[in-house]
Order: sequence, then C-alpha cells, then structure tokens
Amino acid sequence: MSISADDVRDLHRFEIKILLALERLMKDYRWVPEDVLRRQTKLSESELAYRLGHLMQRNMVKSSAVPYKGYQMVFTGFDALALQGAVRKGSVTSLGSLIGVGKEATVYEAMGMGVVALKFHRIGQQSFQTVRRSRTYMPQYKHFPWIFASSFSAQQEYEALMALHADVSVPVPVDINRNLVVMTFIHGVPIVQATLENPDDVFADVVQNVAKAYHLGYIHGDLSEFNIMVDGKGVWLIDWPQWTDPSHPTAEDILLRDITNICTHFSRKYRVDAPVEETLAQVVG
Ligand SMILES: Nc1ncnc2c1ncn2[C@@H]1O[C@H](COP(=O)(O)OP(=O)(O)O)[C@@H](O)[C@H]1O
Ligand SMILES: [Mg+2]
Repeated sequence: MSISADDVRDLHRFEIKILLALERLMKDYRWVPEDVLRRQTKLSESELAYRLGHLMQRNMVKSSAVPYKGYQMVFTGFDALALQGAVRKGSVTSLGSLIGVGKEATVYEAMGMGVVALKFHRIGQQSFQTVRRSRTYMPQYKHFPWIFASSFSAQQEYEALMALHADVSVPVPVDINRNLVVMTFIHGVPIVQATLENPDDVFADVVQNVAKAYHLGYIHGDLSEFNIMVDGKGVWLIDWPQWTDPSHPTAEDILLRDITNICTHFSRKYRVDAPVEETLAQVVG
C-alpha cells in the first residue's frame, strides 16, 4: 500500500496531530491506548474516533481490541508524516506520479525547486537484521524497528549523496525527513531497460564514477544494471543506502561484487571487453 497525493492533500490537521502523537507514543507502547492518545491530542472522544476512522480507512493507522483498545501508525502513515514535513519546509510543493515500487523503497516524481524524486524508504522487520548488524546502539522504538530502520536507511542514502554529488554523477540531495529523501529527478531509465548505442563509453563512464566514489570513501554495495541510469547526457549512479566504507573488513568483497555485476552486464549484453580484475585495478588505482 503506497501513499497517494490525495491522501496527503486531504489530511486534516487533527489527523496530522494524531499521527504525530502516535509517532511519539510508539516509543513507549506497542499499542497506544485510546485514553493516552486522547490526552495527548486533546481531541474530544467523538472527534478522535472520527479522525481515527479516517486514518484507518487510508491504511495509515491500525487498531487492536486486545489486550485493550489501542492504535499503531503503519508505513503509509509514516510516509504521510515525512511528506508533510517536506511540504512544510517547502522542498516539495506537489506530489506527482508513482515511478517505482521496489522491495525497500517507493519512488515518486514530484515538484519542489524543479522536478524532484521522492524516495520513501521502507525497511521491514526482516531487513532490519542487516541494519542492526551495522549499528551498535539500539533505537528508542524497540517494538517498531521498521521506523528506525527506514529512517536510518534514508539517512545513509542522504549522507552518501551529500558527500558524492559534487564529484560523482549521482542525484543531488535536496531534503530528508524521516524515511524520505528528496533528490533531483533524473530524466532517464535504468540501463537494464536501455539499448545503448555507445556501450564502451558508458561502461568507461560508470567505472570512472565508481572509482571517484571509492576514493571519496564510498563503495555502492548494490551496484547493477538496475541502479545505473542513463539520460542521453551521461550515466547516473542511484540507490545508495547500503554503501560501505573502503576500510570496512568486507569492503573488498563488496567492491568486487559491484564490479563483477557491471562487467557481466556490459560483456553479456554488448560484448564489451570488461575483465573484472583489470576494472577493479582501475577503480582502486
Ligand atoms: N533521482 C531519481 N530520478 C528519477 N528516477 C529515480 C530516481 N531515483 C530512483 N528512481 C527510479 O526509482 C526506481 C527505484 O529507485 P531505487 O533508488 O533504485 O530504489 P529501490 O531499488 O530500493 O527500490 C529506480 O529504478 C528508478 O527508476
Ligand atoms: Mg534500486
């Protein structure tokens, strides 16, 4: 279930108030009790019930009757809060069409200062294990690791884009709010969908960008034909939340996997002469 422009535009200020209260209270409760929510929002019983009904209808909140009547915010509600935050700040002015629903993110085209891409990170319970391994402290949201994991994933991506965009061909980061990263929109397609006229040049361009990122301290970690876009002018490396520092113990394996993926793609699809070892040497050299 993803968020729609109407969903956010039509959110009433009391509904935003409820979502914000749930976000705070979910640090302490698995199910936020109705009376606690009422005290925090200062809404009347009937107003609260009406607004919660609306939020549940839109899949932003879910409820439980046992062990007591309680509420939780779910992903769509969290996305709505993030978008609301970006709209308030002015980095997003209107939500456009849905571009992609991946395993771990939903991406929209939108307007802000020009055309922007909105990437809502959605890291579920299982994937959280990976995040936990790379992180020593535990979040406040002990019952809701997805809130922490999704925001953490967004932060990781934002950090990489900030560090790289001046030198490496990646989207320019514009804003971050919770699990949402706002970045410049690339008017292109992932190379998996493209038929390149100059595959040798594109391959060289990719390798050069991977090398620059490596020397700035970033190994992509999920590089493949799905995360490289072309727009007629050049290549773009996207999808950075799982980057690794070159000093990490497994960095070498991760870099080798990234390079093997791109060499395999270019040699299979275009017969580009792309030996892995040589390409690796070019990147780290
Ligand atoms: N900045 C961007 N501009 C245009 N399209 C984008 C942008 N970022 C992502 N996309 C599109 O959304 C898709 C998914 O984004 P991606 O960052 O790869 O996340 P994930 O693979 O985790 O779902 C991409 O394949 C691409 O089509
Ligand atoms: Mg991707």
